[in-house]
Amino acid sequence: MAMSAATPHSLLLKNPTNPLKPTSTQLAAFPTTSLSRHATTRKPISITCSAATTTTPLPTTPSTSASSDRVFNFAAGPATLPENVLLKAQSELYIWRDSGMSVMEMSHRGKDFLSIIQKAESDLRTLLNIPSDYAVLFLQGGATTQFAAIPLNLCQPDDTVDFIVTGSWGDKAYKEATKYSKPNVIWSGKSDKYTNIPSFDSLEQSPRAKYLHICTNETIHGVEFKDYPTPKDPNTILVADMSSNFCSKPVDVSKFGLIYAGAQKNVGPSGVTIVIIRKDLIGNAQPITPVMLDYKIHAENNSLYNTPPCYGIYMCGLVFEDLLAQGGLVEVEKKNKKKAQILYDTIDASNGFYRCPVEKSVRSLMNVPFTLVKPELEADFIKEAAKEKMLQLKGHRSVGGMRASIYNAMPYAGVEKLVAFMKDFQARHD
Ligand SMILES: Cc1ncc(COP(=O)(O)O)c(C=O)c1O
Repeated sequence: MAMSAATPHSLLLKNPTNPLKPTSTQLAAFPTTSLSRHATTRKPISITCSAATTTTPLPTTPSTSASSDRVFNFAAGPATLPENVLLKAQSELYIWRDSGMSVMEMSHRGKDFLSIIQKAESDLRTLLNIPSDYAVLFLQGGATTQFAAIPLNLCQPDDTVDFIVTGSWGDKAYKEATKYSKPNVIWSGKSDKYTNIPSFDSLEQSPRAKYLHICTNETIHGVEFKDYPTPKDPNTILVADMSSNFCSKPVDVSKFGLIYAGAQKNVGPSGVTIVIIRKDLIGNAQPITPVMLDYKIHAENNSLYNTPPCYGIYMCGLVFEDLLAQGGLVEVEKKNKKKAQILYDTIDASNGFYRCPVEKSVRSLMNVPFTLVKPELEADFIKEAAKEKMLQLKGHRSVGGMRASIYNAMPYAGVEKLVAFMKDFQARHD
């Protein structure tokens, strides 16, 4: 996109002395997460923007601007990213360190990108305390691709697998698995509109199931596992879709045979999918498995079999660094609990004006769905919140109501602002 005098577009900030360098405020922000969007002094300048044409040259001086107008983004994914990570990425966008080029332009086999992907893996291993007998893969295709890759890699077509279905994502994973294995739904929360999680003792698991699949946080329904089932057959492994609560709290990886997650909620932009798999499970893919879905190929090539999503992996690496700088996942979980608590408390103290349908013991720390006692007010709620710079609060189209996604990168101040707005909205409409 080229700049021109056409349409007023955005308010941006530049370092007044050198537009190629971030301001000292921006740099000081990394790697701690203490940057407050409201505390930074930003000098807005107006630029204009229009679609590129052959007659409009690209600016010769690249901009390293930061928006002075960021909102609180409650989207379920792609979701808000830590401001200091964005600013760090901005400071390195044009030229990464002494490479003379952007990360987007580097060879994925060159020493610079190798250092980026290796550091990202090593920091993730530290964060989650991933044992050395597990491989970490940075893949493409989203978690949805893993719905097929998992049975293709872990099963033969006649193998049984078990699913506990606590929401729409688990259901999608189950449906995909029917193409490549013989899955059983051993429990489904569908009849209760996915508002709970069963007690594990009462579950009848299939003998000799290859794996037991769970989705540890159902993004649409706001249902989160607080502990995990143990497969009854010692040869059955636990497989978890952690897309929407990945790196939001400590997890004992050794309980799982395979963990997978799309990056775009808690750890980076869309385009990167992370798979953590016990190494002995790799290497038994069904013969029909496409090469891009075969974990053996990716493990043997250190996630560099083909061109990986380099920039996305770089961004994930910055997020991992930031999470470590915060004190690791124990500290991150404390912050997430504090944020969720004030939101659920506000809902529960509203005398029914707001209602969260999820059973209290399994309410998600990441995605908080709620309805209004007067559904006709929902549109106004969303419109007024947007005016206050709180966006993406509409619930998923399949369940309606509202949903506030409050992932790692949502600051406490964002949730505080939301609950203040909710109380005020109630006072005006109750
Ligand atoms: C829990 C969960 N699993 C899977 C997916 C699908 O992810 P992707 O869009 O990366 O394929 C999502 C997306 O929102 C999700 O929330």
